[in-house]
Amino acid sequence: MNLVIIGTGYVGLTTGLGFASLGHRVACVDTDAAKVARLDLGEAPFYEPGLEETLKRLQEQGRIVFTTDLESVIGEADIVMFAVQTPPRANGEAELSYLMGAAGQVGALLSREALLIVKSTVPVGTNRKVLATVRSAMALQGREDLSTLIRVASVPEFLREGAALDDFLHPDRIVVGADDEVVFQTIERLHEGIAAPVVRVRLESSELIKVCANAFLATKISFINEVANIVEGTGADVREVARGIGLDKRIGSQFLRAGIGFGGSCFPKDVSALKSYAGIHGYDFKLLHAVIEVNNTQRHRFVQRIVETMGTLKGRKLAVWGLAFKPDTDDIRESAAIAVVRDLLGLGAEVSAYDPKAMRNARTALPESVHFAPTAMDAASGADALVVLTEWPEFLQVSFSTLKAQMVEPMIFDGRNCFADLGLVALGFQYFGVGLGNAESASSWMRG
Ligand SMILES: NC(=O)c1ccc[n+]([C@@H]2O[C@H](COP(=O)([O-])OP(=O)(O)OC[C@H]3O[C@@H](n4cnc5c(N)ncnc54)[C@H](O)[C@@H]3O)[C@@H](O)[C@H]2O)c1
Repeated sequence: MNLVIIGTGYVGLTTGLGFASLGHRVACVDTDAAKVARLDLGEAPFYEPGLEETLKRLQEQGRIVFTTDLESVIGEADIVMFAVQTPPRANGEAELSYLMGAAGQVGALLSREALLIVKSTVPVGTNRKVLATVRSAMALQGREDLSTLIRVASVPEFLREGAALDDFLHPDRIVVGADDEVVFQTIERLHEGIAAPVVRVRLESSELIKVCANAFLATKISFINEVANIVEGTGADVREVARGIGLDKRIGSQFLRAGIGFGGSCFPKDVSALKSYAGIHGYDFKLLHAVIEVNNTQRHRFVQRIVETMGTLKGRKLAVWGLAFKPDTDDIRESAAIAVVRDLLGLGAEVSAYDPKAMRNARTALPESVHFAPTAMDAASGADALVVLTEWPEFLQVSFSTLKAQMVEPMIFDGRNCFADLGLVALGFQYFGVGLGNAESASSWMRG
């Protein structure tokens, strides 16, 4: 099939490459000319494992093209897919102007029967609005009859950044929201080659499934973070509790890692969007208030612990390892690490930071006073303490004896419990994790 994908970000590009590798012909459209120019040269505009190699391969095979000019590609589209951003507004609702703008542009140019697919994460009722917007823009062009043949489907994307391509090609399920059998069958043909159950649902259910999935996973994280906050000083260890409950199949072991809380472009936004959606419909989704509050408090508790342990942070030199919202990505959107660095700076600390991939993005988000070091060890050189904020695997490879020699004080605050099993106390470090019940974690921080 011929696909036109609108929006070439984390979802649009991954989806485009995924469908191209399944044998479809893909044209990716983006308004960001610089991004399209890089893509044309075979350069991925963001870091994602394996993505650039796949991009180059599929470009060489002529299976995928990139353009800013929707008009030049829409004439051949069997399917038009929307993968534009839906960021949160100040009140928590999803901002739909990018999506509706794109729908208007598609409607103004579409002159053949095509299926619309919404990949962006959207509130209930949005797919029908996209369809109505496309149809009315077509009608304005005198194509009212044709517009009645246009259909829409909601096929939300569940990929995780850091494992995006693999998740796209090996999903747990493919959720399809649509109104009629022909659309369901078309979408099943589109996904041929992907071995996953297709969940056929109503449009509105599909829209809700996506935000509910993210809200539920975020709830698990806030739950285990609350557990972490009560276990210290009890002799228990949150990792043992997580393992013990996670092996229960009804609970599952994922998203039960205690730390400084969730971030990224999806969880905070989708939890807020679901809470606002409930509010608009007169329902107070109390659980989600708590999920957000726990998440926001978690990073402050971590900073508070650093202050309580070190006394004032004024003029103290802190090394920070990790700025991305999670490992294997350069994405810093809503990163808890960035929020913690801002707090540390606000308390007068001098920060020397290192991240394997996210430093370019972090430079634009953090004040100029932050020093960006070329290696993790350089960041730690002369530091009064090390603060670990993203669990990059490469941090486990460092020589801790060298690290200790580099630092003024061998003190580590580990916001992701990456080093909890490494026996750092025995090596002479003062080590503080989140919710660790053993000698590795020196003092209780239940207050707050
Ligand atoms: N990032 C994720 O991990 C993820 C996972 C699942 C779902 N989602 C959802 O998918 C959607 C996209 O997320 P993302 O992270 O890929 O966003 P993104 O910001 O990385 O990319 C969006 C792209 O759309 C482009 N765009 C905006 N308006 C356009 C228009 N009219 N025409 C052409 N291009 C246009 C932007 O320039 C940008 O490059 C969001 O709704 C998000 O919630 C994201």
